Amino acid sequence: MSATMSRHGLEACELVSLAVCGDHRGSLIALEGRSADVPFDIARVYYVFATAPGIERGFHAHHALNQMAIAISGSCTIHFDDGNEKRSVRLDRPDIAVTIPPMVWHEMHDFSADCVLLVLTDAQYDEADYIRDYDLFVRLAGR
Ligand code: TYD
Repeated sequence: MSATMSRHGLEACELVSLAVCGDHRGSLIALEGRSADVPFDIARVYYVFATAPGIERGFHAHHALNQMAIAISGSCTIHFDDGNEKRSVRLDRPDIAVTIPPMVWHEMHDFSADCVLLVLTDAQYDEADYIRDYDLFVRLAGR
């Protein structure tokens, strides 16, 4: 499925199969903003790596930020919660991305030692966009 931004909540946590350029030398994926793969202009890229054993990350939602996450190496599990329903996705391939829309609580668990989780976003880092209190998130999501 290609990426869209028309859905909300868990329905908007879409798995996206990324276009792979492959030949006898191996594989290459190029990600461009506002393409079939990435549904927004890319303003920031960050990546999580060298995650210590047993560590869990995330535990927040965003008011407005759109993100797309790809385990470009190794694997991890992302738990999604829109305040109504919960769903988990195991990312374990460099050619599969998952979109993380605004107002979806997300937690990253079960990182493999070699996991490099690449995240594309549509805005620069802004702590004011974070909702880090789960009870507050549930109240806001219920409105
Ligand atoms: P944090 O939000 O705790 O990461 P996660 O949600 O994956 O658990 O971010 C860790 C630190 O990195 C924190 O000090 C904020 C900083 N940071 C930036 O400076 N820019 C960024 O784009 C991100 C995502 C984090």
